[in-house]
Amino acid sequence: MDDIVVARLNRPPGRRQRIANQVLARLGTGLRVAARPYSWGYGNVESRVNVFHLASQTCAYNVPGDLVEVGCALGGSSVVIQSVLSGGGETGKSFHVYDSFEGLPEPSATDAADSVYRKGDMAAPLERFEASFRHIGLPSLPVIHRGWFDDTIPAQLPDRISFALIDCDLYTSTAHVLPHVYSRMSPGAIAMFGVYYDPAVYPCEGIQDTYASPGVKRATDEFFADKPERVSVLYANEYSNGYFRKV
Ligand SMILES: C[S@@+](CC[C@H](N)C(=O)[O-])C[C@H]1O[C@@H](n2cnc3c(N)ncnc32)[C@H](O)[C@@H]1O
Repeated sequence: MDDIVVARLNRPPGRRQRIANQVLARLGTGLRVAARPYSWGYGNVESRVNVFHLASQTCAYNVPGDLVEVGCALGGSSVVIQSVLSGGGETGKSFHVYDSFEGLPEPSATDAADSVYRKGDMAAPLERFEASFRHIGLPSLPVIHRGWFDDTIPAQLPDRISFALIDCDLYTSTAHVLPHVYSRMSPGAIAMFGVYYDPAVYPCEGIQDTYASPGVKRATDEFFADKPERVSVLYANEYSNGYFRKV
């Protein structure tokens, strides 16, 4: 498998930064302009590493089906998944991403009661998603399904899924998406939740509301109440991810 960039550190200074710093140096100031890091949106290095290991595991074991990311925003995890796929030779698998690219829908009554999110939060234009792939030098884009999940899922899901990243923050979105993704997962397939915060397993004192996203755990736990699989918590520094493997 080719090298894969999960986090990009120590970016060389751009032209404007170099010029600004030459001017500042000539003026004899000790000040320097630092490059603004590229924004990958929502996630941290730990969560990208979790995505990398789980997605590449399903490819290495050749679990049948395609890869999907439901809720892709700026593409911070999508570039990792696409890199895993591109580095694995001819797999016959495709990668599908789903998002409104307008942020969250109007919260339902149950999401509104959590008081975490508002309509339009995390709006990420499609152009910025595509720019993330250019930024990291990835030549091919995934199959992009733009729209509200009520319209795109299940209609535009692949028939069989080997890996899914379900990352939609709201109770209502998670409760809608999860049964459709689950029913298409092959035995041995893995689904990861972008946020699955269980303070009983990994307490993060004073956790930010959005890192807790309580609706996701509620929807997920309700769904698995009568299923053989259990969701495991994965450390992701200031919050946690979750995942399960389909029996
Ligand atoms: C946390 S962000 C995704 C982050 C991304 N997976 C990453 O790793 O960088 C959640 C995304 O879900 C999308 N989303 C949530 N509910 C949705 C719905 N019902 N329809 C369409 N998009 C939705 C939002 O637009 C947002 O971009």
